[in-house]
Amino acid sequence: MEGLRRLEYRGYDSAGVAVLTPNGIASRKKSGKLSNLVAELEASPLPASMTGIGHTRWATHGAPNDTNAHPHLADNGKLAVIHNGIIENFAELKAALLEQGETFLSETDTEVAAALLGGIYRELTAAGDPDPLTNAMRKASQQLEGAFTLLAVHQDSPGVVVAARRNSPLVVGLGDGENFLGSDVSGFIDFTRRAVELGQDQVVTITPDEVVITDFFGAPAEGKEFHVDWDAAAAEKGGYPSFMEKEINDQPDAVGQTLLGRSDAQGRLILDELRIDEAILRSVDKIVVLACGTSAYAGQVAKYAIEHWCRIPTEVELSHEFRYRDPIVNEKTLVVAISQSGETMDTLMAVRYAREQGAKVVAICNTNGSTIPRESDAVLYTHAGPEIAVASTKAFLAQITAAYLLGLYLAQLRGNKYGDEIADVLADLAEMPAKIQNILDNADKVKKLARDMADAKSVLFLGRHVGFPVAMEGALKLKELAYIHAEGFAAGELKHGPIALIEDGQPVVVVVPSPNGRDSLHAKVVSNIQEIRARGAVTIVIAEEGDTSVEAYAEHVFYVPKTPTLLAPLLTTVPLQIFACELASAKGYDVDQPRNLAKSVTVE
Ligand code: AGP
Repeated sequence: MEGLRRLEYRGYDSAGVAVLTPNGIASRKKSGKLSNLVAELEASPLPASMTGIGHTRWATHGAPNDTNAHPHLADNGKLAVIHNGIIENFAELKAALLEQGETFLSETDTEVAAALLGGIYRELTAAGDPDPLTNAMRKASQQLEGAFTLLAVHQDSPGVVVAARRNSPLVVGLGDGENFLGSDVSGFIDFTRRAVELGQDQVVTITPDEVVITDFFGAPAEGKEFHVDWDAAAAEKGGYPSFMEKEINDQPDAVGQTLLGRSDAQGRLILDELRIDEAILRSVDKIVVLACGTSAYAGQVAKYAIEHWCRIPTEVELSHEFRYRDPIVNEKTLVVAISQSGETMDTLMAVRYAREQGAKVVAICNTNGSTIPRESDAVLYTHAGPEIAVASTKAFLAQITAAYLLGLYLAQLRGNKYGDEIADVLADLAEMPAKIQNILDNADKVKKLARDMADAKSVLFLGRHVGFPVAMEGALKLKELAYIHAEGFAAGELKHGPIALIEDGQPVVVVVPSPNGRDSLHAKVVSNIQEIRARGAVTIVIAEEGDTSVEAYAEHVFYVPKTPTLLAPLLTTVPLQIFACELASAKGYDVDQPRNLAKSVTVE
């Protein structure tokens, strides 16, 4: 339980344990806080045991309730399984298992994996396999697609825990006469600091005195041993000094996981979770995005993409303004409610209002089972994982990614784009995690500038086209984290007033469009840089790799990898997040819990 408590920060909506006892597996699981499970176990303890598995769930498939909580049992209750990740092909596996007479209690992909594992275990045992649990895990893993860390115990394999991982974290803890497995080291850091990092597609079998690592086919494999010198608190942040930094660095994964399983090899969108009648989606003649704060900026980025791909008029409304302006909404309006927490009262009230007017509502949300998805007609979950820091970063990129997928899906459904055009955009999106990682790996210059600017009193942010909401988000990050007055403007607006703010030494961050983008936006923004530079601004430019045209007018240039214009916000935002986080850290501020802010604004 201490290990589970240390993993609480990873977010959860239910928790459970299973232990091996001489009388078989004893298991207990509860939805809600870990304390619910602790209370239940205090009231009726499990039998003593030295072998067991425990899990805190961040729901992806199936609501967060007792039934869907892990562990899931199989093989007539003799096998217990826990799982992190998303098994993409669970539907076809489930159909095949149902054919074989398997029955299921939950809606989860995990229970399908457990049933698959149980069936193979029975076959191997009948065939006299000397290590049925390990070999069953190997064979089952060969059939699973997607992202998974699976752990299993079987009552007929005492003292053994077997695990497999693909695209999802798992580390081994090497103890003295005991061994451990955890999603990260914080799960066992109280018991050992000797850890082994596992590679992709590996199976590990642990007993009290042995750790055996192989690939999915049984070939011996090596894990990388390391010593954990983090303290427990740092371990919960993956070794980063703050959740904010951890989450900024989680962004390649947040985008990748949000894309996972939502298109096929031919580049066709598969958004089965969008349970809205296709005829209704075809009849939509207006889209209204409802959101607040950072999520509203994600909506603004989405507007450019959706209107370009789908040719559907798309409005982005601040939720708290929407329902007080007598908006024109009817059954042909599709509302897209974007919310990381799914609990923002302003957005929830706006969603209720829109539905009363007959609109269909799709939520883009990061918190499974939260209120806004429950009160929407459909939900497209972002899979950014729990976002602990109050200021949103990885959820923002994941929201933009999910909104792109929604736009491409509508274009596919309504025939605005040919299949190959959609496949091309999906291929570009698939490259984004690596491009984001490239920016993260080359962040030292941005961090140094941030530290040098720790005494800045105000910073302006300019952007154009999709760079405009990025500029707004960059300003919001600096306000939220460093408490510095910051303002984002549309670059084209400069001469209509804001240029009066420019004076000697005024820092201005400019997000420059690709030189290969549309029209002459690039040239116009470069001339904006010249105009403010001529008036003494300190120009800090975010530009596309190779765009040396900006260097003559920029004090500082930070390059991001080339990418199509509409996808650029997934990259140009990242230096601005790092800048705000580093500058706030340089001022000694708590970047995870900024003053006056709450992670979820559940009052209007
Ligand atoms: C973002 O950094 C802020 N914490 C805030 O603007 C947030 O985006 C806004 O409150 C909306 O929250 P939601 O996405 O959970 O609805």
